[in-house]
Amino acid sequence: MKTSILEMSAGLADTVGQVAETAGYLWQKGWAERNGGNITVNVTEYIDDDIRKLPAISPLLPAGTVLPHLKGCWFYCKGTQKRMRDLARDPMANGSVIRITEDCAHYEIVADSPVAPTSELPSHLAVHDYLIAKGSPYRASLHTHPIGLVALSHCSRFLGKDVATRLLWSMIPETKAFCPRGLGIVPYMLPGSVELAGATIEAIDDDYDVVMWEKHGVFAVDTDIMSAFDQVDVLEKSAQIYIAGRNMGFEPEGMTDVQMREISDVFGLPK
Ligand code: 13P
Ligand code: ZN
Repeated sequence: MKTSILEMSAGLADTVGQVAETAGYLWQKGWAERNGGNITVNVTEYIDDDIRKLPAISPLLPAGTVLPHLKGCWFYCKGTQKRMRDLARDPMANGSVIRITEDCAHYEIVADSPVAPTSELPSHLAVHDYLIAKGSPYRASLHTHPIGLVALSHCSRFLGKDVATRLLWSMIPETKAFCPRGLGIVPYMLPGSVELAGATIEAIDDDYDVVMWEKHGVFAVDTDIMSAFDQVDVLEKSAQIYIAGRNMGFEPEGMTDVQMREISDVFGLPK
């Protein structure tokens, strides 16, 4: 007898395994208090005909908005109110696999148990819809609460366009190399709201892979969940270096514009 959908697809099992590993890192980093943060991954490519035949285990649930490019798409989603540290051990008891229905406005839970998806589903699905529409290879999205980056967002001086990006890039060469689009800024909005979802897409469309939700957390996209995590990790490393300098009583100098341009040239960075 089948016990988990993960036994039906090696690709799905591997992807959910990566989500669980990442969830463990989020907890270890101190970015995932209680149920803080959420992860979704578009897993449609791993869904075969047998999985498509599985019955829904929930009623049709409203997606909150219409997602024209997600018809019939499948997602692994962290469960709402579930802890990252628990998901790390047991991803299918702390998250679920859902499919978007034909009307592009609802979803249903298919496996393994009826765990309701994250309250930030509007932002996650809106961003996945945007990525598919654009032909992007990105399949993973991550929302998390990194302490240093959230702290920066409490100071209006860092909220101007690309002010935080330049500061963070200038702390250590790797940050620009591995988060080459920098940090977009989304002004404070109610968590879980459709408005926050819209503003997040706008920021991602402004060519950021990572956006700051002011006084709340970051939202990151990439090809897979490990890569999305890495982009946040390098930004947070820079925030910690900046904070360490300030704690030692000085304003960190930062790399010069010439040094940062050299990084762009050598790594062939997008902007
Ligand atoms: P969920 O538990 O619903 O995923 O919410 C966590 C969170 O960080 C909301 O912004
Ligand atoms: Zn949050």
